[in-house]
Amino acid sequence: MREHRADYGFDGDYRVVPAPAVAAITATTCTALLLTAARLAPRHRLAALAVGATGAFMTITAAMFIRTTRIGKFEVWAQLLSGLGLRGDETVLDMGCGRGAVLLAAAKLLPRGRAIGVDIWRADQTHNAESNTRANAELEGVADRVELHTADMTNLPFPDDSVDVIVSSLAVHNIPGRPARAKAISEATRVLRPGGRLVVADLAETTSHVRQLRELGWNARRRNLGWRMWWGPGMSTHLVTATKPAAGGTAGIG
Ligand SMILES: C[S@@+](CC[C@H](N)C(=O)[O-])C[C@H]1O[C@@H](n2cnc3c(N)ncnc32)[C@H](O)[C@@H]1O
Repeated sequence: MREHRADYGFDGDYRVVPAPAVAAITATTCTALLLTAARLAPRHRLAALAVGATGAFMTITAAMFIRTTRIGKFEVWAQLLSGLGLRGDETVLDMGCGRGAVLLAAAKLLPRGRAIGVDIWRADQTHNAESNTRANAELEGVADRVELHTADMTNLPFPDDSVDVIVSSLAVHNIPGRPARAKAISEATRVLRPGGRLVVADLAETTSHVRQLRELGWNARRRNLGWRMWWGPGMSTHLVTATKPAAGGTAGIG
């Protein structure tokens, strides 16, 4: 269950169509399809079935999306963060922290540490803004240990080997262009300290991230995060985990 006081918005791409319009269009389309199917049913069974199935699919997709973005993501990341077994004095960097869903959950586990969020505050989440993330940190009672940077994760403003753990939730896929997405992973490998851990959850290209990390000699693994991170039927999220080798392993890819 959710244990947070702040509001972390809804994930999605709202750069062209704003979130209220997306919600209205989706609700109207689902309702229209289901009502049309009901009207067609008595006389045109096959057409009713096709229209009804489309309406049901869209409705289920919307419901799963809302559950994942508002509940499932928090449940899954709570487990992932607790699985890291943090001592509480580490530095954790969140690449593409948005309004702080993962960043602030990590901060709660770092009473003597630091939680650093990096973002360019794009409309990949509703009301995405540094000021909103800062307000959320206050609401969650962790503002004293949270640091926010307006920066691109393909060019992290941190020295080599300076961070204990890097997390990233549903953010790398938003970077345009495969080379730039690979650069974000490369930056993570540079900034992590030897022995530091990388935890990336995303919708796409996770197999490429694993390949890239293995080429550097990292013990990267990938797994499906299960139904709680489904964005629609079969639209799953995968997790990439890896530990930076104790000696070296930071050779980037450009
Ligand atoms: C779908 S939101 C996810 C936010 C947060 N990680 C979460 O799970 O709630 C994706 C985030 O990635 C950020 N983002 C996209 N491209 C980025 C880049 N090149 N550098 C830093 N952040 C980026 C967006 O601004 C947005 O906040």
